Amino acid sequence: MKIVHTIEDLRATLRPFSSPSLVPTMGNLHTGHLDLVRTAKPLGDVTVASIFVNRLQFAPHEDFDTYPRTLQADCDKLAAVGCDVVFAPSEKEMYPEPQGFKVQPPTELADILEGHFRPGFFTGVCTVVMKLFQCAFSEAKGPRHAVFGQKDYQQQMVIRRMVQQFALPVSIVSGDTERAPDGLALSSRNGYLSESERAEAVHLSLALRSLGREAMAAADGLARQLPALEARAMADLTARGWQPDYLTVRRRIDLQTPQAGDALVVLGAARLGKTRLIDNFEI
Ligand code: PAF
Repeated sequence: MKIVHTIEDLRATLRPFSSPSLVPTMGNLHTGHLDLVRTAKPLGDVTVASIFVNRLQFAPHEDFDTYPRTLQADCDKLAAVGCDVVFAPSEKEMYPEPQGFKVQPPTELADILEGHFRPGFFTGVCTVVMKLFQCAFSEAKGPRHAVFGQKDYQQQMVIRRMVQQFALPVSIVSGDTERAPDGLALSSRNGYLSESERAEAVHLSLALRSLGREAMAAADGLARQLPALEARAMADLTARGWQPDYLTVRRRIDLQTPQAGDALVVLGAARLGKTRLIDNFEI
């Protein structure tokens, strides 16, 4: 496995290949990320994982400075699953000057849910993903794939829309959410949890599953009952010591409020102590 730190080296390394598959990450890899690499491998003739903690997608009060940087351990794990190339640029390499040009996603998709509670988050994500695509795919002549986890459901939707609206020659592939045996979705941020918080953490996914069941049971009365169901799910989690941002049922197609007959997804974000966790289930 080759590890490169500059855009020039990445392009030179990828030049002999026609069909790269990219797995963008911020490092501190867990088995969910490694599964994305396994998904990426058969899609092309060279598999690239990027590791870059992207300052643009963090608000000043968020965990950019403390986000775990574990490059050596990450590379060992990537080598073990057969990744071919790791692109681990410095901040200066990715942003040699302040990134004045940014990719601004549409408000109806990017200012709701995660974007409401993390203003500017999706602009930061889209900007770095667009740039990573330019770095990894500029030499490619054949199909290009990028793999994103389903755990970041809204992120994946925003990126798909970006690819579609800019007619980028990239296919977006979804990887399933990996879960711990108790059902907690794997996340680099799980490492922030204390032992007692870790035991409690599964209750976000349990609350979402139960909200999902209630939404399905509401059937034709969904639109009328949903505000009360969501409020009760938030109140139950609050009573357990969480600070929920949202627990909500949306239609899959655009994450807007559903009507009877829509395909649904239940999504949530909540803070447990200092750790903010997100999860979702299609129902
Ligand atoms: O999902 C992530 O880890 C990040 O948002 C991404 C896609 C690597 C962009 O920094």
